[in-house]
Amino acid sequence: MNQEFDGQGLGLFSKYPRVSVFDHPTQIEYMKNLSEWSGNSQLYVKRDDCNNLAFGGNKVRQVEYYFGDAKAQGANTVMITGAVQSNFVRITAALAAKLGMKCHIQLESRVANNSSHYHSSGNVLLDRLFGAQLHYYDEGEDEFGADARLREIAEDLKVSGLKPYIIPLAPGHKPLGALGYVRAAIELKEQLSQRNLEFDEIYVASGSGNTHAGLLFGLRAIGVPVKVVGVCVRRERDLQWERIRVRCHEIASLLQVKPSVEDDDIVVSDEQYFPGYGEANSEVWDGIFLAAREEALILDPTYSGKSMAAFLKRARSEDSPRNLLFIHTGGTPGIYGYQDQFERKLSA
Ligand SMILES: Cc1ncc(COP(=O)(O)O)c(C=O)c1O
Repeated sequence: MNQEFDGQGLGLFSKYPRVSVFDHPTQIEYMKNLSEWSGNSQLYVKRDDCNNLAFGGNKVRQVEYYFGDAKAQGANTVMITGAVQSNFVRITAALAAKLGMKCHIQLESRVANNSSHYHSSGNVLLDRLFGAQLHYYDEGEDEFGADARLREIAEDLKVSGLKPYIIPLAPGHKPLGALGYVRAAIELKEQLSQRNLEFDEIYVASGSGNTHAGLLFGLRAIGVPVKVVGVCVRRERDLQWERIRVRCHEIASLLQVKPSVEDDDIVVSDEQYFPGYGEANSEVWDGIFLAAREEALILDPTYSGKSMAAFLKRARSEDSPRNLLFIHTGGTPGIYGYQDQFERKLSA
């Protein structure tokens, strides 16, 4: 499967099946205009928003492993829960379509947003375009309940002859998605050595934790000491820190290797999390507009806009490091779900 990774201290990594969606590294681009704006730092962006499935984003790397597992189990239907404007859900629907599988999506009411754009445009429109069947779950803070509801729907699907595979929402399951970012860590190391580049800090959005924990775990496992800052997009710092700690241990047991991440190596910031999931503060909006107007980057108010705001603040801080890398985790279609808010900002 992935024999090239054997012997790199990644244990069983190559044993986990992966459906390959893209096989080339995502670009690392120098951000000339924002570097000048920062005054101190050289700023780079790794364009995981440009990997090649249905508007891309970090979830592409993650679903490669969930679909690998689903296929290995003989599933013909994939099921997933997410917020209404979930990118994870959209990418799942997209890959299911491409692989000729059915897709059932459960959308949670996680954000108090009454705008019709939020409920029908952006990712929701794409979910439907890719042919997924939508279900709704009225709670937004009940991950275990949402998973239980999805299992009930799965039972009904089995009765009708389908073979469903559930991508779980709640913690405590095998973190297969994180393997996508262990893989990204290996890719990044190769890119750095090819370009003779070194970063002092990496900024990445941290929600379920699969991206942050996978990247951090992978970098440490292959001996790259760069600081990784996870920017909270889903919950406050202490809860997220604990989630990343547990996730790193889960990755170690999945791979059957020693944990490569020490507790004090886990850095989490919730400075841009507030007022809460799916809602952006004024610094986030400023960051979205600045990155768009200086570098033509598209960032959404729920995920990548928040990590960008934290990144830009760091780039302008007095002790900002020399080289900073932003992992652009995507979220592009999400901006259409927030069209009303974009329009209000544009006309202000
Ligand atoms: C665009 C985007 N960035 C970042 C994240 C956070 O990634 P993770 O859930 O792996 O922590 C998400 C999660 O849905 C996302 O959609």
